Amino acid sequence: MLVLGIESSCDETGVAIYDTNKGLIAHTLYTQIELHAQYGGVVPELASRDHIRKLTPLILQTLKESNIDRKELNGIAYTAGPGLIGALLAGSSVARSLAYALNIPAIGVHHMEGHLLAPMLEEIKPEFPFICLLVSGGHSMLIRVDGIGQYKLLGETLDDAAGEAFDKTAKLLELGYPGGPNVSNLALKGNTERYKFPRPMVDRPGLDMSFSGLKTYTLNTWQAAVKDNDATEQTKADICRAFELAVADTLAIKSKRALEQENLNRLVVSGGVSANREIRSKLDALMKKRNGEVFYPRLEFCTDNGAMIAYAGAQRLAAGQSNDLNFAATPRWNLEDLAKI
Ligand code: KG4
Ligand code: ZN
Repeated sequence: MLVLGIESSCDETGVAIYDTNKGLIAHTLYTQIELHAQYGGVVPELASRDHIRKLTPLILQTLKESNIDRKELNGIAYTAGPGLIGALLAGSSVARSLAYALNIPAIGVHHMEGHLLAPMLEEIKPEFPFICLLVSGGHSMLIRVDGIGQYKLLGETLDDAAGEAFDKTAKLLELGYPGGPNVSNLALKGNTERYKFPRPMVDRPGLDMSFSGLKTYTLNTWQAAVKDNDATEQTKADICRAFELAVADTLAIKSKRALEQENLNRLVVSGGVSANREIRSKLDALMKKRNGEVFYPRLEFCTDNGAMIAYAGAQRLAAGQSNDLNFAATPRWNLEDLAKI
């Protein structure tokens, strides 16, 4: 089954073709980073307009690169939520129109299910059940996954998502948008010994997380440095290092707790923040010590992309699921409400 996948929930337009027999055939991505960088964050209206501009050319390019005629497609998968409503509507309108014109089924994919299943695009795939640490710009969740659509939310962030905390830290240190990679790159030059940031909520039982306090801690540390005439690049690097280590440690402690609670030893880490070097190294060490397994998507499939949407949609379409063409988009959508296959 050949499925075209379309992602447009935020600031990336992604298109891919997934074949349920052969795997991923092609994928293209257009990132709006430059468009939003001057505003220090995503401007929703500009995002929607840019998706409209880029969707058709990207779809044509993906078909051309894969040498596939659109008439050969068997289904269309599009991100239906959660995300920015205008951006979602841009992708879902194009997807549903194409499905109507080609007389093939369309399916609305949950963006976070796309992230969660992204490691399945790799040659060595995780087996069910596993614990998924899903860390993106909008969400931080620990989920027990027993199969596709069998998701039990074990814990989540009570305030800022991990990616959001990276982005806000970058903003207050004037490191530009998007923050995650910039904070992480500067952290490489940071001195590990200089600051020790708190590990939020690790002394409390449970699997919920909170990252907004870390952001405040960063702000206070930076302001104190400014007051002491020490607002240097090195201080920024030292703060980035302490911040990144605190997030990585916290995520590792919570992941360990989730594995213990559910009596599992297989961890899947996905979403934009799973690209982070320090977080990967902490989680690798944790799973090595536990003699367990850990899986990540390849770096380009950690952040938003069309391949993960094509994959998730293809699994559901192949199982006979599809949505009416009047099913458009939903900015809020509970992962636990998804149908199992
Ligand atoms: O999954 P994603 O592309 O979009 C959402 O669904 O939100 O995640 C984007 C988030 C941003 O907050 C970005 O700063 C963060 O992922 N991110 C990183 C890294 N690369 C992207 N955070 C930390 N380290 C990175 N290397
Ligand atoms: Zn995402």
